Amino acid sequence: MILEGRLWHPQNGLTEGCVAVGDDGAIERVAKTMAGRKQRVCGMLLPAGFDMHVHFRDPGFPQKETWASGSAAAACGGVTAVVDMPNTQPPTDSPTAFATKAQRAAAASVVDFGLGVSARPGISREAWFGELPAAFWKLYPYGKSWEDYRATATEVTAAGGRPLVIHGEHPSHIDMSPPTELAEHTAHRRLAEAECLAGMPASPQLHVAHLSTADGLAGLPAGATAEVCPHHLLLNLDACDSIDCKVDPPLRTPRDNAALWAGFRDGRIAVLASDHAPHLPEEKASDNPPSGIPGVETMVPLMLQQVSAGRLALGRLVNAMAEAPADRLGLPRGRIAAGQPADLIEVDLKAARPVALEQLHSRAGWSPYEGWDAIFPQRVWRRGELVAADGELQASRGGRPLFTAQP
Ligand code: NCD
Ligand code: ZN
Ligand code: ZN
Repeated sequence: MILEGRLWHPQNGLTEGCVAVGDDGAIERVAKTMAGRKQRVCGMLLPAGFDMHVHFRDPGFPQKETWASGSAAAACGGVTAVVDMPNTQPPTDSPTAFATKAQRAAAASVVDFGLGVSARPGISREAWFGELPAAFWKLYPYGKSWEDYRATATEVTAAGGRPLVIHGEHPSHIDMSPPTELAEHTAHRRLAEAECLAGMPASPQLHVAHLSTADGLAGLPAGATAEVCPHHLLLNLDACDSIDCKVDPPLRTPRDNAALWAGFRDGRIAVLASDHAPHLPEEKASDNPPSGIPGVETMVPLMLQQVSAGRLALGRLVNAMAEAPADRLGLPRGRIAAGQPADLIEVDLKAARPVALEQLHSRAGWSPYEGWDAIFPQRVWRRGELVAADGELQASRGGRPLFTAQP
């Protein structure tokens, strides 16, 4: 297959050119012109998204999401690779649980996948620590003492190998009492992020998930990397007061949005991730609603809309959604260049349409962005195979593991 049109070149930016894709699904060659039959691209060709933070809930909570439904949502939203978080049932915290989840993903996922493995004290002394093909270790504060939380972070970052991703909220600053309105949830956790990050080890092994505050950004430990989610850039307590928008870390203030935007634009926050966290509408409507906002299908479309509106440079979006997460996790992907997997999206910046619930693929069945203008990709290729077109899935299964062995 040869695709021809405007494409995002990793060195030169948007240029006219051709991409030849081999039968093995890798990009063979990128050049100004090529002989042979070509397919014309409308708009432009970009590297597809790589979302290093999703909760596909499988195994354990198939009513919320499965590898089939979550990966369908990803593909239709221009995301061809994901890393799934370990808070499934059973949790991904052992070689057995890892193998079970990897099998389920390989059987049902449309997109390529990596798995995060739950960290706990002493994990770096396990015989399998250096061998399990995990994307990263993941540390949650829930149910832990600050001492245990901090000691585990120090232990795992010192051990080397895969990065440690933390949910950066201080356990003693998280008040879990059920909020009756969204502002209470935010108030319960006002200091949790800054206090947590102030005590974390300064280590290039550390990656801070879903950064949410100006103070958290200012206090990022030296050497650490961070990600930001669309909801912490685009939503805040003033704009979104429905309890459905209860998420951890909580939505904050316009001042926090502005600081995160500044850090995102200048690359201090290198990575864009969705923290796709589907729960059912009836759970969200209960007296003690679970935290989480679905977002894997809307992440790239909403941010392309920001590009179209002149609020974000296209090159910065390409970096944040494709190059930076790949670089962070040591994967050779995210660029339209020879040798890289042909994970591509066709995008027309003029083709905005409102987000419509009935067109989304997640089992969550709701979105805080309903009715927002977004630019969905027209076609999506995973390793050269067309997996989505005009918001409809074109393939089932076929996703492969991204990580095979420790570096
Ligand atoms: C996540 C979930 O539902 O699994 N919820 C959330 O509010 N972000 C857990 C998490 O990422 O902390
Ligand atoms: Zn989290
Ligand atoms: Zn999460």
